[in-house]
Amino acid sequence: MSKLNLGVMISGNGSNLQAIIDAIENQTLNANINLVISNKSKAKGLERAKKHGLNTKVISHSEYPSRNEFDEALVFNLKKANVDYVVLAGFMRILTPTFLNAFHMKVINIHPSLLPSFKGTNAQKQALDYGVRITGCTVHFVDSGIDTGPIIMQIPVIILTSDTLESLTNRILKAEHKLLPKVLQMISDNKFIVEEKKPHIKWLK
Ligand code: GRF
Repeated sequence: MSKLNLGVMISGNGSNLQAIIDAIENQTLNANINLVISNKSKAKGLERAKKHGLNTKVISHSEYPSRNEFDEALVFNLKKANVDYVVLAGFMRILTPTFLNAFHMKVINIHPSLLPSFKGTNAQKQALDYGVRITGCTVHFVDSGIDTGPIIMQIPVIILTSDTLESLTNRILKAEHKLLPKVLQMISDNKFIVEEKKPHIKWLK
């Protein structure tokens, strides 16, 4: 099966980036990380990437006069690195059509809730505040909405009565680290296609 050429975009800790790196190194994911981009120069994920010899680039949104110009710089660098799929792994910026048209249905995001519930930021807190008993994580394609694109796979996480925001966040993160590399391998194995009509994902095997 073909090797995926990934670009991973981060803003912070990069534990999901680490999960992808680990899966590649232990050969459960057939992919290369061609480039790691962070919009924050101090993101811990950059150190993780460098430790594993990956190419990194800081592209700071604050240095661009508009979202569009920031996105053009992202696209330029990802295309230059021959990236096929872009993974948003805790990347905290909203992408414009400039970016999404350049990588149409090739951008995937990991979100810490069972979408379509609890979109946007602080999804774990939203779930706790609402009082649901099950939440989880979702990997989906990115479209022009916020956390609205076609859902690929989800893992449920039960909320315990003893949970704090921290304990729940950590348990969801563990599920994220399983889910994200698994979905990437499914893409590499051509397990599904994206259809324009709902349901969006058509499973092939
Ligand atoms: C994760 O919870 C992810 O779902 C969300 O941002 C967080 C990133 O964590 N989009 P990390 O930087 O991968 O550790």
